[in-house]
Amino acid sequence: MVEISELIKAHHRELSPCTHGGDVWKISEKFGIPLNRVVDFSVPINPLGPPKKVLQNIRQHLNLIKNYPDPNHEWLIETLSNYVRVKSNNIIVGNGSTELIYLFNEAFVESGYEAVVPIPTFGEYKVATMRVGGRPLFLRCDPAKNFRLNFEELEKAISKKTRVIYLCNPNSPTGTLYKKDAVLRVVRLAAEKNILVFLDEDYGDFVADNRRYSMAEYIKRYDNLFIIRSLTKFFALAGLRIGFGIASPDVLNGLRKLKMPWSVNSLAMFAATEAIKDNDYITRSRLLISRSRRQMQKMLQELPWLRVYPSETNFFLIEITEGDLTSTQLKEGLARKGLLIRDCSDFDGLNNRFFRVSVNKAEENKKLVENLKSFVNSE
Ligand SMILES: Cc1ncc(COP(=O)(O)O)c(C=O)c1O
Repeated sequence: MVEISELIKAHHRELSPCTHGGDVWKISEKFGIPLNRVVDFSVPINPLGPPKKVLQNIRQHLNLIKNYPDPNHEWLIETLSNYVRVKSNNIIVGNGSTELIYLFNEAFVESGYEAVVPIPTFGEYKVATMRVGGRPLFLRCDPAKNFRLNFEELEKAISKKTRVIYLCNPNSPTGTLYKKDAVLRVVRLAAEKNILVFLDEDYGDFVADNRRYSMAEYIKRYDNLFIIRSLTKFFALAGLRIGFGIASPDVLNGLRKLKMPWSVNSLAMFAATEAIKDNDYITRSRLLISRSRRQMQKMLQELPWLRVYPSETNFFLIEITEGDLTSTQLKEGLARKGLLIRDCSDFDGLNNRFFRVSVNKAEENKKLVENLKSFVNSE
């Protein structure tokens, strides 16, 4: 018998895949609820669904799935570069922004080096770091300070071993938006020390007009900055998988060498090109999110057993502050009613008293809050 476990690479043996929200498939099967009746609060996706023009465009191009996708996707890159106002050689596309998290680590991280990761945050940064032999160095953010990152502590955590600093802005699952000055300061400091900054702006599209910003313009000045953006959330294309990265040509050349061919499929390319042109959809989505966010926050704050953390994006991190109920029990109870929330017990830096809910349409948010009330009353 071959001992397969001994053949697995040493630094992969302790690795386990990250868990995520959005498992509408499981809930549907487990509780016999039709898939389209599950209201998903577990992943922060635009409740309007994909733009209609995108769906039409995909239908028109269905026959192209017999061909391989354009491996260079130059037209998509051109459109994306205009969208974020950088040059086309500053853009790389990926099978969701997740592909780019993995590619980035493959290109730049190796055994003996560390990634500074403020937690709680998106779990794939840790897994992607460990996959290539790197070590994540967690920096715990304080719940008493609404999980706001202490930038002085971040600076202190940097050492000769640091290869990357992660910043998720707005951060998931907390919804915190960092100040632009603070982000810039980290990028500058990192540049002086030959350290890369991985900036995840996936939820930036949902931030209110007067608060929204991107650091894209700074890639001209700072070639240690790598930014990811996703189209899976704001344009509701999660099942199609499309995201992109913004950085200096030198950083992107490091990634391109390793990129799996055809990782972005043809339909995703057409969908992305159409989606970012749809200004009417973009405006309607932002209006809906800003109204629904306010409404949802107000309703949630009226539940005395919950602490709702302030958020600048389309989801709220919530803590159960009274009683014995865990977030895992709450998730299970709500799932029976076709409402899926994100149990945050598996996030580094959180525990089984935390959950996250995304902002949906007003009537759906109301249904969630009503069910939260009745669920607790029946405990
Ligand atoms: C903070 C954050 N970054 C990146 C991703 C990856 O998204 P995608 O691969 O769909 O672009 C997610 C997905 O949930 C996320 O929450």
